[in-house]
Amino acid sequence: MSEAGINPVLTDHEARELRLLIEQRSGIVFDESRERFLTSRVLEQMERKGLTYGAELLRLVRCSNVEFDSMLERLLTQETSFLRYPALFSAFQQHVLPDLQERKLRDRDHALRILSAGCASGEEPYSIALSVCEAVGPRAELEASIMATDISHEALERAERGVYGRRVLANLSSAQISNYFSKVEDSYEVKPQLRSMVKFAPMNLAQLMYLGRFDCIFCMNVMIYFGAELRSNLIQSFHRYLEPGGYLFLGHAESVANIPVKFNQTIMNGTRLLQKPLDQSACHIRAAGDGR
Ligand SMILES: C[S@@+](CC[C@H](N)C(=O)[O-])C[C@H]1O[C@@H](n2cnc3c(N)ncnc32)[C@H](O)[C@@H]1O
Repeated sequence: MSEAGINPVLTDHEARELRLLIEQRSGIVFDESRERFLTSRVLEQMERKGLTYGAELLRLVRCSNVEFDSMLERLLTQETSFLRYPALFSAFQQHVLPDLQERKLRDRDHALRILSAGCASGEEPYSIALSVCEAVGPRAELEASIMATDISHEALERAERGVYGRRVLANLSSAQISNYFSKVEDSYEVKPQLRSMVKFAPMNLAQLMYLGRFDCIFCMNVMIYFGAELRSNLIQSFHRYLEPGGYLFLGHAESVANIPVKFNQTIMNGTRLLQKPLDQSACHIRAAGDGR
């Protein structure tokens, strides 16, 4: 019994119905390995809402998007940090950005557009902005804009605030911390130079909208929570939304294997880079299993 005098109960059937609803609306799959996590978070949410029976919660979240979103917030995994994969960000700085800069300047195109999909509390898009500042330099004739999206309104609020504890800055050098953050008591606030490069917006990847073409798409550690069909559809959409020669960045446990799109793959600094071919005729659907 909780302090509020409630002893919430969730039957297996109700848990199954919730899992189905969550997958339909957000794409997130709670398989057996994550069942206990789901149940304990849902029971906490029922306590918070003063609900005793799972059927009451089901009714509430089916009728109200606000209630569904409030429950979903408790179920999202939002682990992230600055320069989360240092080798990937150094390949981005040393290979990808110089390659894009050279082609852009040759084509007299001054806009560099980057998407960070599933950006959580902002560490990823601000790391992208920091990498651009370091690789491209302030006098470059290239204007970078980073669109950063997530399904979580709470995470986006933290991202907009841009204030972080020391722990998530562990991969940054002290020069990077002093160049790009202002110390406010025990926290670190992102300076306007990075902040002005990033725009945050809510977006559910299970209902992906066309946001224009991008030179780079980062979607790291998001699709691992989705089913195979949504994963495949998303990677095909990202491929379409990339400019020819654009790059896709995935998490370490994610790949484009068995998805009918063509990416050229190179290993740089121990990191696998996925590049959409520059030559459009090379983008034809290929045999399953290619492109791992
Ligand atoms: C583990 S975090 C990854 C953060 C960052 N990309 C990184 O790799 O450090 C996963 C993020 O995906 C978001 N997410 C989960 N399902 C989503 C969906 N359907 N649409 C958009 N974002 C989603 C979560 O809210 C969370 O912020």
